[in-house]
Amino acid sequence: MRVLLFTGKGGVGKSTVAAGTAALAARAGQRTLVLSTDAAHSLADAFGAAVGPEPTEVAECLFVQQVDAQLRFEQSWADIQRYLLSVLDVAGVDPVAAEELTIIPGAEEVLALLELRLQARSGRWDVIVVDCAPTAETLRLLALPEALGWYMQRVLPIERRVVRTLKPVLSRAAGVPMPEDSVFDAVERLHRELEEVRELLSGPRSSVRLVLTPESVVLAEARRSYTTLSLYGYRVDGVVANRVFPAEGADDWRAGWVVSQDAVLEQVHESFVGLPVWRSVYRPTEPVGVEALATLAAEVYAADDPLAPPTGQGPFRVERTRTGAVLHLALPFVSRAEVDLARNGDELVVTLHGPAVPTSRSDAPGTAVGSYRRLLTLPAVLARYRTAGARVEQGELQVRFEELVT
Ligand SMILES: Nc1ncnc2c1ncn2[C@@H]1O[C@H](COP(=O)(O)OP(=O)(O)OP(=O)(O)O)[C@@H](O)[C@H]1O
Ligand SMILES: [Mg+2]
Repeated sequence: MRVLLFTGKGGVGKSTVAAGTAALAARAGQRTLVLSTDAAHSLADAFGAAVGPEPTEVAECLFVQQVDAQLRFEQSWADIQRYLLSVLDVAGVDPVAAEELTIIPGAEEVLALLELRLQARSGRWDVIVVDCAPTAETLRLLALPEALGWYMQRVLPIERRVVRTLKPVLSRAAGVPMPEDSVFDAVERLHRELEEVRELLSGPRSSVRLVLTPESVVLAEARRSYTTLSLYGYRVDGVVANRVFPAEGADDWRAGWVVSQDAVLEQVHESFVGLPVWRSVYRPTEPVGVEALATLAAEVYAADDPLAPPTGQGPFRVERTRTGAVLHLALPFVSRAEVDLARNGDELVVTLHGPAVPTSRSDAPGTAVGSYRRLLTLPAVLARYRTAGARVEQGELQVRFEELVT
């Protein structure tokens, strides 16, 4: 099963290209599902069809699903939330305010990804296309399973043990309700499921495609996403430049756009060396409906196979050397000074300081990004070596590991 994710800045055409790619796959006889984690019902708009929270057939082999994030959220969060509410109640927090406090912003989106796991496990699909939210949300979403995993592995077992021994004492003393086992179970289940989602999305048959329009600010954001996606171990296997003005028969106004888009497109090619950059022309009308979408996608991919499995080694690999090993982590556009490394047992903490991508216009909106951090659990072969140095070369962070000399 092939999994394709589409992300990019708001409004660039993610839903359109995702829907088009799915339509093309279905036309080739692949059992295809395209699902959106977005609260806005943009897939329904793109297909010009009513789409429900369950896969809805819109053409032969082509199903569309608008995940009901609220419902998923309630299913996986209810137990945990109930406990949090009981704590806040004891603390004297007003119930309405408490309800607000237990809602994590963005969590609905994240949990919508759990639907992807269910669909992937169902065996119904050859291809699943995910129409993601705009960049920032998507990144947060893709980084979460790992962050949560760290917390679960370190804190939860301890907490659970502590709770067991101290429960009677604590309950009496502070009047704070201790979490029931069901709460721990719910957190653990959530973690396990998110971890599966992560494995699926960072696996060899999954890849992310960046959608952009040929504008400097949009390109800057796409470059940053490329870096951050690589940091978290997701493969990017192509770029779609959408809304490219056709040059033929242009009046002065459009001719101006053609020139400025050409300049940015050149930068796009330079930025994403080694990746295909597909183009999609700016159409005179909105591409709506299966036919229009499939036609658009057929033009975009031209002779390329839109479902080809990603080639190359992925953003993360380990190379053995005579005295130890070198870990290679793809980090395009980043300089050594922007990377901080810390070693903590079998874990490598990689922190990226923003702005990860200096642009020619440092005043461009959205240039200042926060830092991103990855807690990388080292493979067993590396965990027993000491870290001996690091450098950034050709868009890669290379960390040298050497035998402990005792
Ligand atoms: N190549 C194109 N030519 C003409 N119109 C287009 C093209 N691509 C997208 N559009 C139109 O632009 C609008 C935005 O596209 P779309 O909804 O796919 O963007 P998006 O990136 O998914 O937006 P959002 O960030 O809101 O999810 C839609 O009305 C769509 O029909
Ligand atoms: Mg959209």
